[in-house]
Amino acid sequence: MAEIVPWLSRVRLPISTPRLDLRLPTQEDLPDLRRSFRDRRTARAVGASLHSDAERKDPAIMVQRTRREYRAGEHLSLSVIHRDEGRCIGRVGLRGLDWRWRKVESLSYWIDPRYWDQGLATEASWYLCRAAFGPLRMRRVASQALDRNAASLAVLRRLGFVEEGRERRSVCVRGRCMDMILFGLFPNELREFPREGRAQERKGARADESATGPGRARR
Ligand SMILES: CC(C)(COP(=O)(O)OP(=O)(O)OC[C@H]1O[C@@H](n2cnc3c(N)ncnc32)[C@H](O)[C@@H]1OP(=O)(O)O)[C@@H](O)C(=O)NCCC(=O)NCCS
Repeated sequence: MAEIVPWLSRVRLPISTPRLDLRLPTQEDLPDLRRSFRDRRTARAVGASLHSDAERKDPAIMVQRTRREYRAGEHLSLSVIHRDEGRCIGRVGLRGLDWRWRKVESLSYWIDPRYWDQGLATEASWYLCRAAFGPLRMRRVASQALDRNAASLAVLRRLGFVEEGRERRSVCVRGRCMDMILFGLFPNELREFPREGRAQERKGARADESATGPGRARR
């Protein structure tokens, strides 16, 4: 443990991006987290993959767990703070820090639905990947997304993640089984910081689609 924590503390927190501060969660985030978790779209996504039911009901448990995992050098999970609004709008994390092989098992993220399609998950994730390959000296970052989670797949591809495989019928929710797409990223593959997103353009196109028929499903 003594070898691990000094490496993790090389990432200076907060990580500041053009619009966000990424920092360890605190009690101050609890009202925002509770409000996000009340949204059915967040609850479904983060409940299925990122947090237990108990943590969704009481985000204080998640805050404590995150800080414990950070001290142990196991995971780096950060609150996403919208600087202009001064509120916590999501989480981004490097889960499963493998110090022996210098790789990260999973880049993970969620953003409050009211802030979707503004390029914020991409922005937070890009800076976190840069920290992984910079101060943390990781060789590789992996991630996964369900094949029907179009937004998550778009974030990973935009960052430069390369598709490496597919776990067929890996996750079953309410009797419906979905494939999990596996991705990996090496330092030379991380794209330039993606300034101009196509999010707004696509958002317009999806609004047109929803006027005429069903859009693509998200997780
Ligand atoms: C996945 C998630 C984090 C994306 O957050 P976000 O801040 O909206 O992401 P960004 O705005 O940075 O990028 C979204 C991309 O998805 C695209 N997108 C969004 N919805 C889409 C859809 N239905 N079909 C196709 N593309 C879509 C956007 O156009 C954008 O791509 P672009 O930058 O190339 O234009 C957010 O949807 C979320 O929190 N989902 C629930 C949790 C989750 O699924 N987490 C990931 C798995 S653990």
